[in-house]
Amino acid sequence: MSDGRPELPARLLEKVRQLHQSIEQHNHNYYVLDTPTISDLDYDRLFRELKDLETRYPALITSTSPTQRVGASPLSSFQPASHRTAMLSLNNAFEDQEVSEFDRRMRETLEIDALSYAVEPKLDGVAISLVYEDGILVEAATRGDGSTGENVTQNIRTVRAIPLTLSGKVIPGLIEIRGEIHMRKLDFERLNQTQAKRGDKVFINARNAAAGSLRQLNPKITARRPLTFFAYAVGTLEGMKSPSTHSEMMDLLETFKIPVCPERAVVEGTEGLLNYHRRLEGLRPSLPYEMDGVVYKVNTLKQQEQIGFVARAPRFALAHKFVAEEAETLVEEISIQVGRTGVLTPVARLKSVFVGGVKVSNATLHNEDEVHRKDLRVGDTVKVRRAGDVIPEVVSVILENRPEDTKPFVMPKHCPVCDSEVVRIEGEIAVRCPNGLSCKAQLKGALSHFSSRRAMDIEGLGVKLIEQLIESKQVLSIADLYSLDHERLAGLERMADKSATNLINAIEKSKDTTLARVIYALGIRNVGASTALDLARNFGELDVLMEADEMRLLAVPEVGPIVALSLIDFFSVSKNREVINRLKAAGLTWPSVPLEQGSLRPLLGKTFVLTGTLEGMTREEAKKEITAAGGKVTGSVSKKTSYLVAGADPGGKLKKAEALEVTVLNEEALMSLLSE
Ligand code: IVH
Repeated sequence: MSDGRPELPARLLEKVRQLHQSIEQHNHNYYVLDTPTISDLDYDRLFRELKDLETRYPALITSTSPTQRVGASPLSSFQPASHRTAMLSLNNAFEDQEVSEFDRRMRETLEIDALSYAVEPKLDGVAISLVYEDGILVEAATRGDGSTGENVTQNIRTVRAIPLTLSGKVIPGLIEIRGEIHMRKLDFERLNQTQAKRGDKVFINARNAAAGSLRQLNPKITARRPLTFFAYAVGTLEGMKSPSTHSEMMDLLETFKIPVCPERAVVEGTEGLLNYHRRLEGLRPSLPYEMDGVVYKVNTLKQQEQIGFVARAPRFALAHKFVAEEAETLVEEISIQVGRTGVLTPVARLKSVFVGGVKVSNATLHNEDEVHRKDLRVGDTVKVRRAGDVIPEVVSVILENRPEDTKPFVMPKHCPVCDSEVVRIEGEIAVRCPNGLSCKAQLKGALSHFSSRRAMDIEGLGVKLIEQLIESKQVLSIADLYSLDHERLAGLERMADKSATNLINAIEKSKDTTLARVIYALGIRNVGASTALDLARNFGELDVLMEADEMRLLAVPEVGPIVALSLIDFFSVSKNREVINRLKAAGLTWPSVPLEQGSLRPLLGKTFVLTGTLEGMTREEAKKEITAAGGKVTGSVSKKTSYLVAGADPGGKLKKAEALEVTVLNEEALMSLLSE
């Protein structure tokens, strides 16, 4: 504290240091330990004392002062923040058997008989990463797509449970702590009461309230929301010896005064895991925070490393969910929703009922077959289930309660929005409206998707406004957003000059974007945000992706036959290509993506045929290596074959390759290709 401030008397600096420490200690007692040791009045006195000193000697104000938690001015948007190591998700299990299989897999991989696990609640909130440099909180970011999130530092600084400086004698040079921002049950209820009283938005559940509060651009609003935090992992630790187990890591965090969940434990084997799950499920109603299951992690960090990761989740961890909560209610209506891709989805409109603390009044019925399978009818009493953040669903019909005059459900033959005759595509269960963007429901869906946060992120373009834009015929395609006219926009109901300007600015801002966002924003069926990211990384340029054939697409790790076909279908429609051209003409730009994975996959797009006996490896091994490098191995030589790999005694395939002028490689040449 005294560094670089020789002009202030040492006594004063010491006084301020004590005030910081004491106020933060009381914050910790109150917000983390839940046991305040002074009255609110005394706390306020301390705070005021510090504030007064800072007013008198502004040089005393530092970013880590407790008075500076809520100081920042509102942002116009969040800046991206890239994670030092990827923030992953978890694989889920619902059944006990999946848990014993997980334990067996872990023991087999490690070749040991018994294993310890760190176990903890699966908190229902928002994942966050906190970076402390030399013990000072310097950055807080959301998870985002796993590699880049949003910088929410100024909001996180308002969370009193999170220390601005780490406590303890030995502090790491750098530590990145991960955990869950959440809202306690009681705080959530209180917040909703206040919101309702003020006529403000009421949140559906604690998780939404936490997420919404964290995403406020004005930190003063976040500061009024009762957010709290539990840590559950460390991404990076530098400048200090790492503990050897996850549980010791959590203990270490505790010494820094970082909040960790008190219900965490260490257990042995499948039995231990299942007992913990049962115990926590029993405790769940009496615990102050929401959880939707428990998480198991192999405790020893070296072993975690040995076991490694698959795709976007660690292989050494598992989320074991709790059984969903159920309630009974009445089906008042079955209505039809038309989605972004034209699919007609029956939705049960229910008499409102609380399921797991959340008011439910709609439940998706998925599709026509599903309604018939359950024989669900208007007037029925049904069991409704809700699991965590999953959309509520109808589990079953209680037939004994069925009134006499009910009629079986009939799927409409016409789109309820545009009246086009619906089609059922062969092999698909779904019924679709074929009218594309000429159907207002689909256009609305496309526009909402296009402007959503993970797509073009156009702030201020909400559903209501989209509806108005469609009704007033200002927008007939996503590309039209880029030629909106300020005057016509300002003329819309509830639209002032200022909000029209803001929207146009937001649209303008979205032009400077990334390839992954554009791919996702196009709304290609079966292409979610993470697939879009993979495609961007593997193709680097939109034009290359647009021309890719099935084989090339299938070489991307996350792309299977369905996604490949969806991409080919999409890019073969001339209207879609036209929209892409219009977007480019409107000024959408994105940097080409360095072929990160492509360079690790030097054989991407190449087809191989293997023949004869190889010396250094079996053909099966060669096939594995080629596939891992992005290549494909097929059985017979054709004009499309890139290489024939010929071992000893090659036979007929070699002749054919020579006739077709296919390049022939010996084993050595293959090895050098693979190591390129
Ligand atoms: S560990 C290394 N532990 O669940 C694995 N995650 O489905 C990374 N979550 O995004 C996650 N409680 O936000 C872990 N005790 C816990 C958790 C937890 C909640 C969330 C987390 C993550 C999501 C994955």
